[in-house]
Amino acid sequence: MNVQARKHWKVIVPCLVVIAAMCVTVAYSPTLYRMFCAATGYGGTTQRVLSDTAAISPKTVLVDFDSNVAPGLPWRFEPVQREVTVHLGEQTLVYFTAENTGDEAMVGHATFNVTPQASGIYFNKIQCFCFNEERLEPHEKVKMPVVFYVDPAFGNDPDMRSVSTITLGYTFFRSAKPANAKDMSRFLANAAPDAAHGQALFAERCASCHALDRNKIGPMLEGVVGRPAGSAAGYDYSAALKNAGLVWSTDNLDRWLTNPRAFVPGAKMPVRVLDEPSRRDIVAYLQKVSQPRAGGS
Ligand code: HEC
Repeated sequence: MNVQARKHWKVIVPCLVVIAAMCVTVAYSPTLYRMFCAATGYGGTTQRVLSDTAAISPKTVLVDFDSNVAPGLPWRFEPVQREVTVHLGEQTLVYFTAENTGDEAMVGHATFNVTPQASGIYFNKIQCFCFNEERLEPHEKVKMPVVFYVDPAFGNDPDMRSVSTITLGYTFFRSAKPANAKDMSRFLANAAPDAAHGQALFAERCASCHALDRNKIGPMLEGVVGRPAGSAAGYDYSAALKNAGLVWSTDNLDRWLTNPRAFVPGAKMPVRVLDEPSRRDIVAYLQKVSQPRAGGS
């Protein structure tokens, strides 16, 4: 290659690389846009988080709720409360009801949106029916919990200074992929505990600090049902929990998970599970792993 040709290639090769990169970007732009929205909250997408350890701020914001059902889904869908005032960083439990007014079981999927859109980045959902495809039996009516908190950083963002109300809106659509839907009957008051679901919740919301068979940030939990509180060998408990004089019955576990630091003042577990169906399933899982294994010792 002569000097002239080599010079040309030095220009052409980088140009081709740039063009290829642009093509890839365009081809994947819907995916990239979705990832970008999820990461930044841009477009009113809210954040999904697994548990809340954010500090609670004295500042408050009003959160109000909006619900819609798209044509083609014979459901009634409403928030139980119109609005709540929340402290930034404080986990809050609210409810929505859904009723299938039709004669056939039907699967719906809820999309959500936060306005003003820019506040979406601060809106964190821990528990929501909108994470799944949801099946309602004919004429079944359920009360669905949503647990969320507004990030304390909302209070320090100059762009949010004029925002006094955040609106959380949901629209239920008839599902396009009903095969893997979850049954909304799990939200009925008399629903049977689901240890398998409890295991999945444990993996999401407890396993960062707890294992079944060894102490981590929190004590080991195998055998916890029926065990005196503060008694796992080799774990450094708070004095409060060690001296609480409690035995972990399923009722006490339910109260602990609702609010550990209110149940045992001075205890050092920072996590709460506000909604009853999640607590019920997690406790069912703990109970299952606390039963002596057949044939084992
Ligand atoms: C951020 C870490 C963290 C997470 C997440 C966490 N825990 Fe804990 N947990 C702790 C700590 C720390 C203690 C010890 C508390 C003390 O000594 O006051 C504890 C104690 C407990 C105890 C008492 C055990 C005993 O031996 O007395 C139970 C039961 C428990 N956790 C269940 C759970 C469950 C169920 C979850 C999931 C929903 C969970 N924890 C999530 C940190 C955590």
